[in-house]
Amino acid sequence: MSKVSPLKHLVLGPPDLHDVMKFLAKYYFTRENIRLGVGFNTVSRNDEEIIQHCLELGVAVGSREQTGRLVGVILCCFITADSSWYSDETKCTSQAEVAATRIVNMAKSLVDLFEDPTVKKVLYLKASCVHPDYARQGICKKLLEMCVDLGVERGCQMAVGVTTSTYVQNICLELGYENRATLDLNEVKESLLDLSRVNNTKFIVITKHLSPNHKVISKI
Ligand SMILES: CC(C)(COP(=O)(O)OP(=O)(O)OC[C@H]1O[C@@H](n2cnc3c(N)ncnc32)[C@H](O)[C@@H]1OP(=O)(O)O)[C@@H](O)C(=O)NCCC(=O)NCCS
Repeated sequence: MSKVSPLKHLVLGPPDLHDVMKFLAKYYFTRENIRLGVGFNTVSRNDEEIIQHCLELGVAVGSREQTGRLVGVILCCFITADSSWYSDETKCTSQAEVAATRIVNMAKSLVDLFEDPTVKKVLYLKASCVHPDYARQGICKKLLEMCVDLGVERGCQMAVGVTTSTYVQNICLELGYENRATLDLNEVKESLLDLSRVNNTKFIVITKHLSPNHKVISKI
């Protein structure tokens, strides 16, 4: 393990695109459970567009060493009642990408985000990743707190994530998220993922109500 240094946590934007792509290519797409399960560990054109979109919205957060090296990222975007949060399978360019998209859509279909009429805008936590050298130092938790602050600031009434890592599931529950639905991969009829390659077979949809009176704790 290399030596760790003090970090700066910040909101990322379009100038960070190249860095974020490189970081996620190396540490997210090669380690996240859906990508492991479908055997698809490269950054697709779709991924690139999503990363760019999240950075443009100003709701992506990251941690950098004093040298500038990026060591943590969470990408978010917004969902409203009239903007579907389902990913578009027709934009996929490989069978593996279709399988990955279908799994996420299955999990999403388990929760009606707008059943509560007071919820108009939702912050969607799309990807979270921390450099292995910095594991278990609370970076993911810190960045998740920053996301809640940003969500409140940007007028969201709820935050949602489809969590494929038990670590993130536990952190989110600690941060007051609610377990809304579980997609048990052992019960998925279609054979989309190779379960021998994943280290968690229960993907959980978590949500948290965001109050405008939320006390900012992360001090972005
Ligand atoms: C999941 C991930 C983002 C966690 O980042 P992190 O900054 O290490 O997480 P935190 O330090 O905030 O972890 C908080 C808790 O999660 C658990 N945890 C995190 N990583 C762990 C590990 N490698 N082994 C055991 N427990 C772990 C611990 O309970 C930890 O608290 P503790 O150290 O006080 O016991 C990171 O491991 C990662 O990038 N994984 C690959 C991509 C991925 O799966 N992303 C999530 C998709 S939902």
